[in-house]
Amino acid sequence: AKLSVRDALRAQNASEERVKVQGWVRSVRSQKEVLFLHVNDGSSLESLQVVADSSLDSRKLTFGSSVEVQGQLVKSPSKRQNVELKAENIDVIGNCDAKTFPIRYKERHPLEYLRQYPHLRCRTNILGSILRIRSEATAAIHSFFKDSGFVHIHTPIITSNDCEGAGELFQLEAAGKIKVPEENFFNVPAFLTVSGQLHLEVMSGAFTQVFTFGPTFRAENSQSRRHLAEFYMIEAEISFVDSLQDLMQVMEKLFKATTMMVLSNCPEDVNLCYKFIAPGQKIRTYAEKQLFNWGIDLQTEHEKYLVKHCGNIPVFVINYPLALKPFYMRDNEDGPQHTVAAVDLLVPGIGELFGGGLREERYHFLEERLARSRLTEVYQWYLDLRRFGSVPHGGFGMGFERYLQCILGVDNIKDVIPFPRFPHSCLL
Ligand code: 4AD
Ligand code: MG
Repeated sequence: AKLSVRDALRAQNASEERVKVQGWVRSVRSQKEVLFLHVNDGSSLESLQVVADSSLDSRKLTFGSSVEVQGQLVKSPSKRQNVELKAENIDVIGNCDAKTFPIRYKERHPLEYLRQYPHLRCRTNILGSILRIRSEATAAIHSFFKDSGFVHIHTPIITSNDCEGAGELFQLEAAGKIKVPEENFFNVPAFLTVSGQLHLEVMSGAFTQVFTFGPTFRAENSQSRRHLAEFYMIEAEISFVDSLQDLMQVMEKLFKATTMMVLSNCPEDVNLCYKFIAPGQKIRTYAEKQLFNWGIDLQTEHEKYLVKHCGNIPVFVINYPLALKPFYMRDNEDGPQHTVAAVDLLVPGIGELFGGGLREERYHFLEERLARSRLTEVYQWYLDLRRFGSVPHGGFGMGFERYLQCILGVDNIKDVIPFPRFPHSCLL
C-alpha cells in the first residue's frame, strides 16, 4: 500500500504489510551497519525515519533528492515516533546536487534568504508549516461561514469599478493575437478587482448573508512588510444589519473560530512557527508622545500607538470622518464632525487587519454622495439596489495574509504567501 508520511507516522503499530512511501530526503546519516534517512512529503512537519542496511548504495541518497522507499513499518526504538520504515528497497527518483541546492542540510535559513527562492523555499520546515497552516486556515474560514449560514459567492476578478476609489487599480489590456482596433476588449476600461464588496452587496440583496474569499489587487507603491500587490481577502456582507456592534461580533467570531480551528488542527506547525519566528521578532519603536488631530487618516504609526495605548490587544476603531472614507459608507449625520459608520480592527504588530462598516442604503443620501464624486453614471446599478427593496446592511474585509502574520508572528507579509507580488518583483 502507498502511504503518505503523515499516515505512516500515524500508524500505531508495526504491521506485516509492505508499504511504499515517496518523498524528499531531509537527512542522511550512516553508521557502521545501518543507514538512517528522514523522508518528508509535505503531508506533515515531521519526517519519517527510514532505516536501511548500510550495504545499500547510498551515494545518490543526498539531501533534497526524491525517493521511493518500500519496506515494512516496524516499532521504533526512538521515543519521538511510534514507527519507522525498515527499508527493503530505496529508489532514487531524482538526484539533488547538495552542493548547488540553495537549501542546506541542517541549516536554519533566515526567511529573507529563502525569499530569493520562491520555487524551492516550500521544501523547508518553516515554509512548509506556514503554507500548511495557510491551507488549514482557508478551510476553517469556509467552514465558519458555512456553519453560520453564509452563501459563498465567486466575485469577479476582472471588473470595471474601483470599489475603494483610491486609484490603486491595475488596468487590463488584451495582449497577444487579439487586435481590437480603437476599442479595448471590454469596451470599457477594465481592472483587476481591489475588493469584491460591491458585487457582494448585490448578492446580499438576495441571499442575506454572503461571503467571498479570493485574490484582490492593489497598485500601491508600498514596499512595507504588510502590503502586497496581490493579496487574498475574506469579505462578508450581511443584510438587515443596522449596528456596528452586530458587525463587530461577526468579525470577532470569524477571527476566533478560525484561529481555534488552526490551533487544534495543526499544533505542530504552529509550534514550529513560534519557535522559529518568535525569538527573532523585532520590537518596533515609535514616538510615544505622538498625538493626532481630528481629520487626518490613521497612518501605521498612529495605528501602533492606539494598539499600544489600549494594552497591546486588538482594538476596534469606529466612526471615521466622512471625508476619509469611500462613497458607500453610511452617513452618521452627527453634525460638524460628520462621520460615517466605518469600523477597522487594529491588531498588535500589524495595524489594520479588518476594514468594514455599514453601507449607505438610503437612496437620496447615496445619490448625493455619488454626484459629489461624479460617479452617478457609473453606479446606476448600485443606486438601483437602493430603489428595489433596499435594506440596512454592512460588511467587512479581512486581509488573509495579515491574519496569518497576526496569528503566527511573521514579521514580513511576503513570507505567508507562496508567491509574493510587490513593486519591482514578480518572480516566477
Ligand atoms: O480596508 P480595505 O481597503 O477594505 C475594503 O477593501 C473593503 N471594501 C472591504 C469590505 O468592506 N468588504 O481592505 C480590507 C483589508 C485591510 O484591512 C487589510 O487587512 C487588507 O485588506 N489589505 C491588504 N493586505 C495586504 N496588502 C495590501 N496592499 C492590502 N490592502 C488592504
Ligand atoms: Mg481600510
